[in-house]
Amino acid sequence: MQNKKFYVTTPIYYVNAAPHIGHAYTTILADVLARYHRLRGVPTFFLTGTDEHGQKVQRAAEKGAMTPQQQADQTVGRFQALWKKLDITHDDFIRTTETRHVRVVQQILQTLFDHGEIYRAEYDGGYCVPCERFYTGRELEAGTCRECGRALEPIRESNYFFRMSAYQAWLIDYIHEHPKFIQPDFRRNETLGFLQQPLNDLCISRPKSRLSWGIELPFDHDFVTYVWFDALVNYISAIGYLADDQRFQRWWPASYHLIGKDILTTHTVYWPTMLKAMNLPMPETIFAHGWWLVGDSKMSKSAGNVVNPIELADRYGVDAFRYFLMSEMTLGQDCNFSEEAFIRRYNADLANDLGNLLSRVMKLVTSHCGGKIPAATAEIVGADEQQLRQAVLNAATRMEECLDQMRLDLGLTAVASAVREANRYLEKRQPWTLAKQAEHGALNTVLYHAVETLRIVSGLLYPVMPTKMRELRQVLGLSATEPSLDQLKIWGKTVPGTPVGAMVSLFPRIQAGAPTQATTATGQPAALPQATPPTGVTLVEYADFAKISLRTATVLAAEKIEGTDKLLRLQVQCGEEKRQIVAGIALYYKPEELVDKTVVVVANLKPAKIRGVESQGMLLAASAENQLRLITVDGVLPSGAVVK
Ligand code: MSP
Repeated sequence: MQNKKFYVTTPIYYVNAAPHIGHAYTTILADVLARYHRLRGVPTFFLTGTDEHGQKVQRAAEKGAMTPQQQADQTVGRFQALWKKLDITHDDFIRTTETRHVRVVQQILQTLFDHGEIYRAEYDGGYCVPCERFYTGRELEAGTCRECGRALEPIRESNYFFRMSAYQAWLIDYIHEHPKFIQPDFRRNETLGFLQQPLNDLCISRPKSRLSWGIELPFDHDFVTYVWFDALVNYISAIGYLADDQRFQRWWPASYHLIGKDILTTHTVYWPTMLKAMNLPMPETIFAHGWWLVGDSKMSKSAGNVVNPIELADRYGVDAFRYFLMSEMTLGQDCNFSEEAFIRRYNADLANDLGNLLSRVMKLVTSHCGGKIPAATAEIVGADEQQLRQAVLNAATRMEECLDQMRLDLGLTAVASAVREANRYLEKRQPWTLAKQAEHGALNTVLYHAVETLRIVSGLLYPVMPTKMRELRQVLGLSATEPSLDQLKIWGKTVPGTPVGAMVSLFPRIQAGAPTQATTATGQPAALPQATPPTGVTLVEYADFAKISLRTATVLAAEKIEGTDKLLRLQVQCGEEKRQIVAGIALYYKPEELVDKTVVVVANLKPAKIRGVESQGMLLAASAENQLRLITVDGVLPSGAVVK
């Protein structure tokens, strides 16, 4: 790993919809890498932001009856609030609608146009609207979009093109000569495979008659810039390209562009050729991670299976959420998200292993060592102690190697196994028995080794769980300053005699069938009474219940469905989304009684057709005998609020 500086970026996120777990994942990964580098003492710059132009955003704005700028302003706040909640320590947040960015994009376009790198031509081909991609030649023959599989729309118009094809041979050579440029290796092969076909020039404009929401071409006011040609430039406009040369030279080239696998071509073909045309050095590594899936399929709004990171962080805690995402996904591969897997990992690694180690050590130090960390007795340090030291120091080395190889998941596995080793060590050395037998020398040695393990482990986990590890270190009386990674590779830095703090329960176990909120005032899991189900009702696990997303929604309109007695067609607003729901409530409610009511809907029910009418969700209602009443909200809440 180069030590001079570390510049890491996330993709900039479209502001057409709310953030989901995929966005949270990349941003947390970038945050963890940035934090590790800062702890290593490497000057670090971490950039994230939002991609605010283009058709997707314009369409979302039209749907929500807003201007694209209003749409962007509204959604950017949701991203910024999420990053704050998730403890993200970005150094800058760039919005592509900011003047500092627009100015740079226009200057680049003008220079490339002046140098003949951009030219005007007639375009005749196919177009994928959601992906904003043009297709010609062999790619067009398929009739569907390479990225999303949707049918292509025929299109014929005059546009501006970037001479991307001129760089094809250079790019292929560059990728071969720089094996770290595209990672993981199989993604590099994917790009090389793509480059086996002739590379077309890139259409970089959109006529304003079709799309007005974009950066105007400086040399033709009838066109705006293609959103990708605008968005990719964020990586250099944010750090002062064409504005502050010193700053730009300090950070460019990026150490890592972190991206999802779906935006590989734009980052490993468009971006390098753009940079080459600008005469700029290439980023060191473009790293494409896999996707978070739900039940083995892609998350999508229409399937209603989009995982909301705010809900998870609220339910289980920000740090546990960060830990789960970082340890569960093998970097580069797809990973299935499930709440069961979350609870399993949390209970195993955090509640049982780490939490247990801390509470055992704290109890003994408090009751047998006067609340001060004891010193190890040199002559008692034997094979068991050596084995533990080795396991812990190995974890520190392994974490460093894994970071350099972008295998954070494996680094965390090494740390988890060092913690397990420490618990095994305690079971073998039985400090509670040593305490009873007043074997002070042995007891002190064992406790010192356990505390020293916790010092190193908490430092290694600090970038992933900053709040919880800060608390853990305070409990152990360790310095309030952030740990330095170098100190984690050296055994024996804990100072004997340091007073420990008051015990806290860092990771209360999640009871099967109970949410984590079921804790007492002291943070301990509450003893939940064993519920007796009403006759005929099957008990379900909490994790099963948690799969159902219940939301508030406001009824915008309601009407009877022709030819039926019982069915009403409702249009409801649920957060930012409008939905149509068919409800069998016509015998109990007149359509006009429903308008403006705040109701509760099952928001992740698979859409279904009822009497030929699509229903995207279900209303909750209580019924008894011949009555039925809708479930509503006590008081005023915005639509889209989570019901739990
Ligand atoms: N605006 C472009 C990026 C421009 S970067 C110069 C964009 N935005 S996005 O909001 O649609 O997606 C941002 C990132 O989220 C992409 O890296 C994409 O791969 C990632 N993900 C979207 N869904 C995902 C999952 N289900 N899982 C993991 N990441 C996913 O593309």
